[in-house]
Amino acid sequence: MESQTASPISAELRRRFNSAARVLVLTGAGVSAESGVPTFRGGGNTAVWKGMPFDVISSAGMVERDLPAVWEWFDYRRDLLKAVKPNAAHVTIAGWQHRFPDLTLVTQNIDGLHQKAGSHDVIELHGNIWRARCVTCSMTSESNEHRACVGCGDHLRPDVVLFGELLPTGAYDRAADAALGAELCFVIGTSALVYPAANLPVMAKRAGAYVVEVNPEETPLSDFCDEVLTGKAGDILPLI
Ligand code: OAD
Repeated sequence: MESQTASPISAELRRRFNSAARVLVLTGAGVSAESGVPTFRGGGNTAVWKGMPFDVISSAGMVERDLPAVWEWFDYRRDLLKAVKPNAAHVTIAGWQHRFPDLTLVTQNIDGLHQKAGSHDVIELHGNIWRARCVTCSMTSESNEHRACVGCGDHLRPDVVLFGELLPTGAYDRAADAALGAELCFVIGTSALVYPAANLPVMAKRAGAYVVEVNPEETPLSDFCDEVLTGKAGDILPLI
């Protein structure tokens, strides 16, 4: 008889995966790492831009002080992201949306790679780098070129959550609703250090969900999860 390699996926997870209807997936920078997008806390090379730390150039105060510099930084990041493609993790998660009657995908990423892989109705807690938003009337624009709002003529800014800013209205509430109703919750590629996103798996578990973490490193959530799959999302997710 051939010897079988033990699967990292437990029988319990398989059973729950086959029977769940309501699923919550929370992703962070780690899900895009294998596409070549640097993470925030993994020694990535985006930590300093022209001598300014990431949390200074990407801040609410900087939009007020020097909006052109903010755009320069975001144009640079958009340029890096243009050639980036979704990886096996994004593709697997996109497939899950067909598999489960009710799957809510919540991401902290702004790169748009989940949508590129085919996911729809993605809740983007931190916005999207490919959109802009008017500083005055908040009208959003998909265009990369315009730097004036077509609604009121004022300046556009990147439609992303910067340091010192609140999450987009409604996004967290929708994510929290899904967390409270989920039977199964995946936490993938996030250091689980940034709130309120990191609170979603906690809410889901307290409301009865089976919580599974996918990450090569331990996080503050690891001990709290029902199951931890240690490894890269692009390797692990296709096995589930
Ligand atoms: P972090 O950079 O804090 O964490 C990335 C996580 O991904 C770490 O736990 C890594 O171990 C894990 N990781 C690395 N490679 C992986 C792989 N191939 N597969 C799976 N996991 C992998 O990123 P986030 O948790 O997303 O907010 O950071 C949260 C927020 O902090 C960001 O959205 C950003 C930042 O401040 C804003 O910009 C508003």
